[in-house]
Amino acid sequence: MSQTVTSVIDGKAVAEGRTVASTNPARLDDIVAEVVMADAATFARAAAAAKAAQQAWADVPAPVRGRAIAHIGRAVEENAEALARLVTREIGKPYAESLGEVREIVDTCDFFLGEGRRLYGQTVPSEMPDKQLFTFRNPVGAVAVITAGNFPVAVPSWYIVPALLTGNTVVWKPAEYSPAVSNAFHELFVRGGGLPDGVFNVVHADGEQTYTGLQAALEAGDVDKVGFTGSSAVGREIGALTGRHLQAACLELGGKNPLLVTPSADLDLAVEGALFSGFGTAGQRCTSLGTVIVHESRHDEFVARFTKAVESAAVGDPSGDVLMGPLLDQKFATRYEDYLGWVQPHHTVYGATGRIGGGNARDGFVGDAEAGLFYHPVVVDGVRPGDAIFDEETFGPIVGIATYSTFAEAIEMANAPGYGLSSAVYTTEPDEVFAFRRGISAGMVSVNNSTSGAEAHLPFGGNGKSGNGSRQSGVWVLDQFTRWQAMNWDYSGRLQKAQMDVVETTPEPGFRLTEQ
Ligand code: UN1
Repeated sequence: MSQTVTSVIDGKAVAEGRTVASTNPARLDDIVAEVVMADAATFARAAAAAKAAQQAWADVPAPVRGRAIAHIGRAVEENAEALARLVTREIGKPYAESLGEVREIVDTCDFFLGEGRRLYGQTVPSEMPDKQLFTFRNPVGAVAVITAGNFPVAVPSWYIVPALLTGNTVVWKPAEYSPAVSNAFHELFVRGGGLPDGVFNVVHADGEQTYTGLQAALEAGDVDKVGFTGSSAVGREIGALTGRHLQAACLELGGKNPLLVTPSADLDLAVEGALFSGFGTAGQRCTSLGTVIVHESRHDEFVARFTKAVESAAVGDPSGDVLMGPLLDQKFATRYEDYLGWVQPHHTVYGATGRIGGGNARDGFVGDAEAGLFYHPVVVDGVRPGDAIFDEETFGPIVGIATYSTFAEAIEMANAPGYGLSSAVYTTEPDEVFAFRRGISAGMVSVNNSTSGAEAHLPFGGNGKSGNGSRQSGVWVLDQFTRWQAMNWDYSGRLQKAQMDVVETTPEPGFRLTEQ
């Protein structure tokens, strides 16, 4: 069964435009949806609709907006299995992970429904009598949210839930390869939350049309904030574009996330962590493991155990109990094949590589490999700084292994690619935990845990090529979607000048204690 998905602006479907099919990456003959693609002018029109609806939404009392978020959370929870099944069907994420992803929306709603009754400002003492100071959080306005399809519902919710809660309206451009999931998400929010028309608009468009539409919307003053999750290259463009409009986008970009295995590491734990970090979501999380940096004294044992675990991991049909399903879409499969070409003669590759099927079978494969975009999980030993596999994000099921001898060298290697999203250290030494935390450039640090799988109420975001320092989730994201307003109120009945009309106590500067 397939459906036709359209953009929705101000509550109305936009039916004109060329149509593109969205396929199930585990069964390429399964068409999940036909999506009508919008152009740049349609994106700009959606932004104008969001802008027009914003003041009325901001006038809705914050606790009432919090209730809307509560209703959305409940609607998502009631539809969790159906939504997770659709995520698995449209992007090939293993079902258990899809359920976890849906849970992340509910967690985000749970956190923010109460924030509607807080959104605290402060009362601040003045330096003068009969004067009081206050701070208020104001919504930024109309927000453009552009997201990737590897987390087609959780990551959008990290932007959209707090943006709506704080009184902003939204125009959302989801990934092109997950339109059915995006449509379900949009319906759950609008209908489940009872959102007025224009408050949450969705536009299905390709990257080029979106960029041109965003440019026009910024020129017209219809977008006040951009949230973007995707590649570092596109993030740079969005950062430059919004910068010209004196805006700071919320950027969540790529990662080359290191996992350190120290001499004291519990190897069973490290292997299990590396397996999930590297090959969960087929290595297509921004938090996926890039390179294991293992101490020379543990190298051989780690490699032996890790490659064995990879060899016996369940790969195949994502509706079953597998570690790894297919790649998200043909675009990612093609790009991943390029990354495999980065292997060099000084590297050791374990196991088969490339697409699974025909003469390149995988023992124990679950289902029909040739029906979808299934690839062998790959371990490449002997990577080092200067190798593309070490330096660049390789979105897909490939993990590098590098070796270190001193802790300082390990930290240097971990930071060398210049990203800074997530990281992990496996150790039982407290001094190593804190030395790692201090030295690592990443915004997120796991101790004896996977690089992926951040909880939805801690600050999420990175540094360097991973982002511009913005943070999502929890209380930290409130600063992305609100602006502080400072108010002073002088009720003395005269002009009291700050810094100039301030009385002070009279100190005795020469005072000394007399010793008896
Ligand atoms: C992403 O890949 O963009 O921490 C987000 C994690 C998930 C989110 C990943 N909760 O791995």
